[in-house]
Amino acid sequence: MSSKRQGNARYMIGTVILLGITWWQIGPHFPHTWSDSDLSLLESLSIDSLPSLPPDRSNTYADSDDAARFGHKLFFDTRLSSNGQVSCATCHVPEKRFTDGLPKGRGIALSGRNTRSIVGTAYSPWQYWDGRRDSQWAQALSPLEDPAEHGGNRMAYVHFISNDVTYRQNYEALFGPMPDISESARFPDNASPVADDESQAAWEDMSPPDRQQVNRVYANLGKAIAAYERRLLHGPSRFDLYVRELTSGNAGTASDILTRAEILGLQLFIDEARCTECHNGPLFTNNEFHNTGMLSFPSDLPDRGRIEGLQKVLEDPFNCLGDYSDDPARNCPELTYVRTGIELLGATLTPSLRNLGGTAPYGHKGQQETLAEVLDQYNRSPLAMIGHNEAEFPLRLNQRELQWLEAFLLTLESPVAAADAWLRAPE
Ligand code: HEC
Ligand code: HEC
Repeated sequence: MSSKRQGNARYMIGTVILLGITWWQIGPHFPHTWSDSDLSLLESLSIDSLPSLPPDRSNTYADSDDAARFGHKLFFDTRLSSNGQVSCATCHVPEKRFTDGLPKGRGIALSGRNTRSIVGTAYSPWQYWDGRRDSQWAQALSPLEDPAEHGGNRMAYVHFISNDVTYRQNYEALFGPMPDISESARFPDNASPVADDESQAAWEDMSPPDRQQVNRVYANLGKAIAAYERRLLHGPSRFDLYVRELTSGNAGTASDILTRAEILGLQLFIDEARCTECHNGPLFTNNEFHNTGMLSFPSDLPDRGRIEGLQKVLEDPFNCLGDYSDDPARNCPELTYVRTGIELLGATLTPSLRNLGGTAPYGHKGQQETLAEVLDQYNRSPLAMIGHNEAEFPLRLNQRELQWLEAFLLTLESPVAAADAWLRAPE
């Protein structure tokens, strides 16, 4: 054989091996064998296992279409801010899966944490990384008065709704007559128990019954916003279609839906990497608080997380047990039997892993720019800067396995399951 022909043969063998490796890495796919217990775990993660939305008894208007339409307008209205430029949608951008693409939310100023998505949070008993609010409606009241977010105060908002002809009509059609707040000695322009010092002093001067009237209108605005947010849900992703096929006994068709790398990533996710210890159920969250040793930026103090959030939710006048809940029975098991304990120091609310593709950066401070960085953190499992890292493995996965895991996470992408009109500013 001439050396040229030998070279050609080597070249061809090399190409065949390379193609073989590529084929093995990305498919074509072949049925992966799942054990029965794996299969039932996969089924429990599928969106098809998501129960219908539980009623929110603390919010009579949660499922009202009129309330959702009113809330939709409020959500996008920049007039609900101290500088007329910030709305909820400033940080919860529909095209970015209701996040903002920034490490930390930016409104009037820079807020302290990464913006969480709103999609699917109607299922969550807690809102925020530290769970300092226990319903979507109670949550909605807090950015409006946060000096870094909307920067306003509740008395000013109530005046605004009362003076705006359309909003006043919308409000009264739902909640009944607005209280008469025309007497400026009783109802100053600005007042709030939590906003700037001047507003706080003005609030102190108001009579308790007047404060209650203002709080009630304010709570109702939150209830309308929550009625809107409740309509933003996760739709079926490729992962869900895969499980659908598997559970219908179509292993062959199933393997056309996910690549081999994605399937191997899924196997790691539920098995060796132990992700489902916390990211479980159809929304990939156990709705619990854990310390995963997520490091802060060097300039940030470590976040105390749930230990402070717990105190705040118990003290929140708008919580499930408070005066503004619509549930006469005050049936609030989450709050009544809430978990306490020192292990909550530095713990944050397990985020859903659905639709991570468009929501970088990650982590409660937006510390991690990419999913690969998050996975690297789990793989190394550093000591927590505060409290105790519960996810202390280290995983010791190799680079290829980490890539599989990431590939799997990205199979959880799906369009927001809501009518188009809800995904843009109202006309
Ligand atoms: C300046 C940016 C900004 C604005 C404006 C803003 N948010 Fe947020 N939002 C955030 C950040 C940051 C977080 C996470 C904060 C934390 O956990 O401490 C968050 C968290 C949330 C959550 C909790 C989601 C979860 O999974 O825990 C909901 C719901 C929410 N915001 C709704 C709203 C609504 C409704 C408005 C308008 C009334 C609003 N936000 C205005 C930045 C913003
Ligand atoms: C002990 C519970 C626990 C385990 C186990 C766990 N996670 Fe998490 N995960 C969390 C919590 C809590 C956070 C929020 C951390 C923070 O930023 O404070 C989180 C954050 C994340 C994020 C960032 C999401 C975002 O929106 O910022 C990703 C991605 C993630 N986890 C994937 C995984 C994967 C993959 C595994 C398995 C290797 C895993 N997690 C194991 C509890 C856990």
